[in-house]
Amino acid sequence: MSSHRTGLVYLDHAATTPMRPEAIAAMTEELARLGNPSSLHAAGRRARRVVEESREQLAEVFGARPSEVVFTSGGTEADNLAVKGLYWARQDGSRPQGKRQRVLTTSVEHHAVLDSVRWLEEAQGAEAVWLAVGGDGAARPDALRAAIAQAPEQVAVASVMWANNEVGTVQPVSELAAVAHEYGVPFHTDAVQAAAQLPVDFAASGVDALTVSAHKLGGPVGVGALILARGAGPVPVLHGGGQERDIRSGTLDTPAIRAFAVAAAVCAEQRAEEAERLAALRDDLVRQVLAVVPDAVLNGPPPGPGRLPGNAHFSFPGCEGDALLMLLDANGIACSTGSACTAGVAEPSHVLLAMGADDSRARGSLRFSLGHTSTKHDVDALGLVIGEVVDRARRAAAR
Ligand SMILES: Cc1ncc(COP(=O)(O)O)c(C=O)c1O
Repeated sequence: MSSHRTGLVYLDHAATTPMRPEAIAAMTEELARLGNPSSLHAAGRRARRVVEESREQLAEVFGARPSEVVFTSGGTEADNLAVKGLYWARQDGSRPQGKRQRVLTTSVEHHAVLDSVRWLEEAQGAEAVWLAVGGDGAARPDALRAAIAQAPEQVAVASVMWANNEVGTVQPVSELAAVAHEYGVPFHTDAVQAAAQLPVDFAASGVDALTVSAHKLGGPVGVGALILARGAGPVPVLHGGGQERDIRSGTLDTPAIRAFAVAAAVCAEQRAEEAERLAALRDDLVRQVLAVVPDAVLNGPPPGPGRLPGNAHFSFPGCEGDALLMLLDANGIACSTGSACTAGVAEPSHVLLAMGADDSRARGSLRFSLGHTSTKHDVDALGLVIGEVVDRARRAAAR
């Protein structure tokens, strides 16, 4: 599906990206077939084969062993399983030092991590330690070291995302994981946004747990995985039939899993070329916006290796982000004020606030995110209307 052909200018690929035609074909074929992969008869065994082949394909794409891939219902569930499950697994009532109650994370995480950590604090007696980030949204390995070194025996788990969903900051995940490991602390990373655009290699990164989600890379919504190193045994969040080595119970969704693997393979094959193409398109988008709105501020790191190639995120002084979003929508242009999961609630972005932005800058911001169907036409369409849209939003805010 080209957004050009549908008439929609879709600049919200970080929220969800169109399914790849190959994934739609694989899923459609599989939907017409029968079999629970846990059943022992021929139909079940056939479904099991599809699941295991998909697991192998995904493991290859993400530099993992097939046995390390645990299927989930998406990124949110994988993040919950990692943060809560690894926290619980590190509690040992018989330790003379007492509880390991500390969870180290940043305040720019997706809500799936952020709110899991907050829940552990409120309901489980954990203590969150929020690592500061710089004005570009990046966490520093020395800040992680300092936070762990205060009381290494009390740290249960650390979690820092691979790439930020709002401003596209790429975190130094390998360095962070290495610091955590010096102290024997398990390290999780949410790679949901990174997986479509950057080479994500689980083994090479050295992390213990890594979250991916199919619908951000051209697969269906509602399926994802937690990639888990051997020995990193989280306590399950979902109990039931004992699927996925008892780590995540629930009947496996064979069609979605197959489509996830197909999408990931296509994505991996085209990734290097796509990253270059998207970065060029993004640079063009940034140029066009700044040409007509010179006081717009590009949030996050400068374009380059520290930023997702498909991400552009601006603050437009004197505007409300929601007003800008609706005015662009009226022009057939889809974008976001930040995380799609919290859009609709008129709150300033927690990510921008953590990066040091004030309330009004955080409120007047928009994210444009590019993906595999993005074209120059999309960028030019935004460039044509953004000046007038910003003028109108400013007049509305001044009233
Ligand atoms: C960084 C990040 N983590 C987690 C999620 C949640 O993934 P899912 O939509 O598969 O639950 C998202 C989705 O917006 C995300 O961007």
